[in-house]
Amino acid sequence: MNAKIAIARAPANVALVKYFGKRDVELNLPAAGSLSLTLAPLETMTEVQTDPSLLADEIFMDGEIADPSFSKRVSGFLDLVREMAGARIHARVRTENNFPTAAGLASSASGFAALAVAGAKAYGLSLDEPRLCVLARRGSGSAARSIPGGIVVWEKGERRDGLDSTARSIAGPKDWDLRLVAGVTDPGPKRIGSTEAMEHTRKTSPYYTGWIESTRVDLGEAIAAVNDRDLEKLGEITERSTLSMHGAALAARPAILFWNGVTVEALHLVRELRAKGHQTWFICDAGPQPKILCSPSDELSTVDALSQLPGITDIIRCKITSGTRLISE
Ligand code: PMV
Repeated sequence: MNAKIAIARAPANVALVKYFGKRDVELNLPAAGSLSLTLAPLETMTEVQTDPSLLADEIFMDGEIADPSFSKRVSGFLDLVREMAGARIHARVRTENNFPTAAGLASSASGFAALAVAGAKAYGLSLDEPRLCVLARRGSGSAARSIPGGIVVWEKGERRDGLDSTARSIAGPKDWDLRLVAGVTDPGPKRIGSTEAMEHTRKTSPYYTGWIESTRVDLGEAIAAVNDRDLEKLGEITERSTLSMHGAALAARPAILFWNGVTVEALHLVRELRAKGHQTWFICDAGPQPKILCSPSDELSTVDALSQLPGITDIIRCKITSGTRLISE
């Protein structure tokens, strides 16, 4: 196999109906389906260059040699690609995020979506969208949702090999204009990785079963709300999914607390804005960053209110966008 190069750009995604629990840890199969928005401008750009002269994979993050644990994860993922392609040749990977890495801003989702698309191409694999979702999912579950664009559903799937646990778009990027305002309170890496947090919650939280059951109901209702373009309904499901996920994690023993004080203040703020008639709903992932789903007409007032909260250091205004794409090969 000769040297080949491919570059992909992948957007982040933020779930409205959360994924938090695995039915298979090795394959990253979720215990329930989830629903997300594919978002600009948060994105990862990744270049994969196969090179017969390399004795091992070389991984660069933002122009510097990546730390060993990240490199190991990327190399392990490339092993899957090599296995599918029947190749042994190593690769040089350069990856860049335009936002803080591993801080609960979905960097693993965009990161593994970009790596799946660029890696498959560089190793000569021709995979359709469902297969790319399955591959991206192996790197990080939520990465499956960054392959398609718009509003995306990632299916739990029934098969043990996970081939039916893929993601699909249920509305295109231009079909419904929704906004997401992401606040940064602490750009450092998360204190606990999401897989560890999910497994600890599954094993020790008395609320885990209820959380998974409620997610199944929430997903069905959220899909209906998207089909009806019913923002009030979708917002209500969104906030309750976030709060239930964090509730299950808080009930784990010992408790997992992703939030800091600013996160809690942001939740109060969102509820106050809503009481004043604004269409705003609180979202939070496996980190302290508060995110707010809102209507386009409420975006500026939301940004304004959030920016006045002490402890908010940055605000990123996001819009729905298209999925991961190859930009050169
Ligand atoms: O990025 P992953 O696959 O480790 O999963 C993270 C899941 C949450 O961000 C906590 C919720 C979600 O559905 O994105």
